Amino acid sequence: MRLGTKLTLYLSLIIIVVLSGYGYFHILSRRDILIRKMKVEVRSMGRTLKVSLEKISLVREMEYVQDLIDAVEEYEKTLGVIVYHQGRNLIFRSHSLEGEIEPYLDLIKRSIREDLPYEEFGRHQKVSVFSYTFPLKDGRGRNIGGVSILQRTSFLEEDIRKAKWSIFITIFVLIGGTVGLVLLGTRRWISIPISKLVAGIENLAKGDLDTRIDSGGGDELSELARAFNRMASDLKDAQERIIQEADAKLELERSLRQSEKLATIGQLASGLAHEIGTPLNIIGGRAELAKKRLGDKEEAYRSLEIIGEQAERITKIIQQLLGFIRKKKPEQIPLDIRAVLEKTLDFLDHQIHKQRVKVTKAVREGLPFVQGDSDQLQQVFLNLILNAIQSMPGGGVLRLSASTKEISKKDVEDGKRQYVEVCIEDTGLGMEKEVIQNIFNPFFTTKDTGTGLGLMVSQGIVQDHEGWIDVESQLGKGSVFKVYLPCYEGER
Ligand SMILES: Nc1ncnc2c1ncn2[C@@H]1O[C@H](COP(=O)(O)OP(=O)(O)OP(=O)(O)O)[C@@H](O)[C@H]1O
Ligand SMILES: [Mg+2]
Repeated sequence: MRLGTKLTLYLSLIIIVVLSGYGYFHILSRRDILIRKMKVEVRSMGRTLKVSLEKISLVREMEYVQDLIDAVEEYEKTLGVIVYHQGRNLIFRSHSLEGEIEPYLDLIKRSIREDLPYEEFGRHQKVSVFSYTFPLKDGRGRNIGGVSILQRTSFLEEDIRKAKWSIFITIFVLIGGTVGLVLLGTRRWISIPISKLVAGIENLAKGDLDTRIDSGGGDELSELARAFNRMASDLKDAQERIIQEADAKLELERSLRQSEKLATIGQLASGLAHEIGTPLNIIGGRAELAKKRLGDKEEAYRSLEIIGEQAERITKIIQQLLGFIRKKKPEQIPLDIRAVLEKTLDFLDHQIHKQRVKVTKAVREGLPFVQGDSDQLQQVFLNLILNAIQSMPGGGVLRLSASTKEISKKDVEDGKRQYVEVCIEDTGLGMEKEVIQNIFNPFFTTKDTGTGLGLMVSQGIVQDHEGWIDVESQLGKGSVFKVYLPCYEGER
C-alpha cells in the first residue's frame, strides 16, 4: 500500500473516531436538555394548576374543576389530567383521558402520604407518557388530595430524533470534508513529491546523472529533493573527474609505453652493434687470413666456412629483429589454439625426431577460441617448443597442454576473466635463477648459435594479444612455459 494511502486511511480513522465520539456525546447532552425542558414545562403547568385548585373547594366547585382540567388537556402535548379528593373519594379526569387510571390514583395517594411530588416515565394506553404527580393542600396546610398530569413524550422523542439527524448530517459532512482535505493534502505534499523522488532515483540508477527533482517548498521532502539534487550533481562532477583522470592515466601509460619502446630500441641498437660486431670481426679476420694463406687450401676452406657461419648468424639476428620491428598490429581473428599448436608441431617434426623427443598432448575438448593473429602466435609456440627441444639434447618428453582458467593479469585487481592457458613443458636442463631473470632480455642467450631474441619477440607478441608468459624451472629437471591468452568472448 502506498504511503499516501496509508496516511490518509490512518488520519481518516482518527477523524472518524473523534468526530463519532463527539457526535455521540452531543446527542446524549441534547437529549438531556430536551428532557429537562419538558420537565420544567410540566412542573410549571402543575404549579399553576396547584395554585388554582387550592384556592377553591373541590367538593363545591366540581364543575369549575372539570373545566379547568379540560382546559389544560387542550394543550396538545398533554394527554390528560387526574384530580383526586381524598376525603370524599372524588375523582376528576380530563375529558378525553381514556382507559385505566388506577396506577395514577395509587401514585397520587402515595404522593399525599409522603407529601412529595413524583415524576415517572411510563405508558398509558400504548402511548409513552411522563407523569407529574403532586399533593394538594387546604387552607391549613393539610393534604386533601392530589393531581397527576400525563404529558405525551412523543413530542420529546420527535425533538430528539431531529436533533440526532442534524448531528448525524453535520458529523457526516465534517468527516467527508476533512477526509477529502487529508486526501488532497497527502497527495499534494507527500505522494507526488515521493513519486518524483523515486522516479529521480530510478533515473539516477539507470545512469542519467543529469536527473534533477523539482524541490520547491520548505518541508522535509523538499529538503530531501534538494539533497538528492546536490548528490546527483556531486556524482556528475565525480564522474567527470574520473573520466578526466582515466584519460590522463591512459595518456601517461601511452607515453610510458612509448618511452619503454624507445628504451628497448636503444637496448636493441647497442646489443645489435655488439652482436653483429663480433661475427663481423671474425669475418674480417678470417677473410684476411684466407687472403694471406690462399695456398693452404684447407685453411682457406675452414676460414670460408666460418665466414659463412657468421654471416648466417648475422642474417638470423637481422631476420628476428626485422620481424620484431616491422611487427604489424596483430590480426584479430577467432583462433582455435589446438590447430595452431598442431601446425607448429608439424613444422618441427624433423627436429623432434632427430632429438628423440617424445611429445604428449593434453588439449581440453571444446577449448574456447582466442582472438588474435595465427602467424604471430605460431611464431611464439615455435620459439617456445624449439627452446624446449634444445634444452633436451639427450632426448626427453615434451608435454603440451591447453585448458581454461579464470584469473586476472598480474598487478591488476578484480580484472578476472577467462584465459586459455597453454603449457609447454620439457624434461630438459632447466635454468638457474639468474638465467630465468634474464631470458626475456634481448640478446640474452646461453647457446653458441642462439640470438637471444626468441623469448623477447614471443613476449612482445603475447603482450600485444593482452596476455602474458609465466616461467617455472628446476635445474636438471626441466622447465614449463605457460602462455595466457584471453578467451574470445563473441560467438564461435
Ligand atoms: N625450455 C628451456 N629450458 C632451458 N632454458 C631455456 C628454455 N627456454 C629458454 N631458455 C633459456 O633462455 C635463453 C633465451 O632464450 P631465447 O629463446 O630468447 O634465445 P635462444 O633460444 O638462446 O636463441 P634463439 O631463440 O635465437 O635460438 C636461452 O638461451 C636459454 O638459456
Ligand atoms: Mg630460442
